[in-house]
Amino acid sequence: MQNNIFSSLFVGQNLVTLKEADSTNNYLKELLSNSKPVADGTVIMAESQYAGRGQQQNKWNSEPGKNLTFSVLLKPSFLPLQQQFYLTQTISLGVVTAMQQVTGLPIQIKWPNDIYYGDKKLGGILIENMVQGSGIKNSVVGIGLNINQEVFPDWVPNPASVKQILHKDYELSALLLQICGSIEAWYLKLKAGRLDEIHRQYLANLYWLNQERDFMSDGVAFKGRITGVRNTGFLVLSTESGEKEFNLKQIVFLNK
Ligand code: BTN
Repeated sequence: MQNNIFSSLFVGQNLVTLKEADSTNNYLKELLSNSKPVADGTVIMAESQYAGRGQQQNKWNSEPGKNLTFSVLLKPSFLPLQQQFYLTQTISLGVVTAMQQVTGLPIQIKWPNDIYYGDKKLGGILIENMVQGSGIKNSVVGIGLNINQEVFPDWVPNPASVKQILHKDYELSALLLQICGSIEAWYLKLKAGRLDEIHRQYLANLYWLNQERDFMSDGVAFKGRITGVRNTGFLVLSTESGEKEFNLKQIVFLNK
C-alpha cells in the first residue's frame, strides 16, 4: 500500500458538505451553541457562502463551486491562552505545506496567516477561539483558498488562484482531504509540545522574512526588515530607528 502522508485520523472524519451557507464559521459556531456535542476535527465545507467573512471585518469573496471555503473545529484545551499564536502558526503551516506539496509552488505565509504566492493572496484563515478559563475550549478555524476561480471582482485586494498560476483545475474534495491531513499532522506536533519546531518552520515559510521592504504604520511609510515574530504574534521589524513590534492593526505591507 502506498503511504499517504496526507491521511487523517480525526480532522475531516466528520465532514459536512453544504450547498450554501452564510459563512461556514457561523454555521459551525451555531452548531456548537446547540446542545448536541460536535466532534473534534469536524469540517464544514460550503460550495457557496453568501456572507463569507475575512479578517478585520472584511468580506471573503469566492465564486460558488470554484474554491475551498471550509471551517474546522479543533478543541485545543491543552494550549494555554498565552500560546494561542502557536495555533495560528500550526494552521498556517498545515495549509501552506499541503498547498506546496500539491501544487509544487513555493507558497508562503504572509504574517500572520495569509497564504501567498509571490505578491498575491491565494487564501486566508480566520480563527475564532472560544475561551473558557485560561484555555481555548473550541477553535473555529475558517479557511478560504482560491483554487479554480479565474476572474475576481475589482474590490478584492491582490487575489490569485491556483488555476491562474498553473492553468489547470483541481478536484476540490480531494484537495480538502489533503489539507485536513496536513493540518492534523501539524496539530499533533502542537499537541506534543513541539513549539520550537513549529515556530522555526513558520519563519522558514514567512513572506518577506529578512528582506529590506516598505511598510506603513500610522500613515507613515518606512523601510524595515522582518526579523521575527513574538510568541504573542507581534511582528518584529528592524528599522532605522531600531527594533519595533507591531500588531495586525498597526502595520501595512507596501508592495511597490
Ligand atoms: C482573510 O484572509 O481575511 C481570512 C479569510 C477566511 C475565509 C474563510 S472561507 C471559510 C470560512 N468562513 C468564513 O466566513 N470565512 C472563512
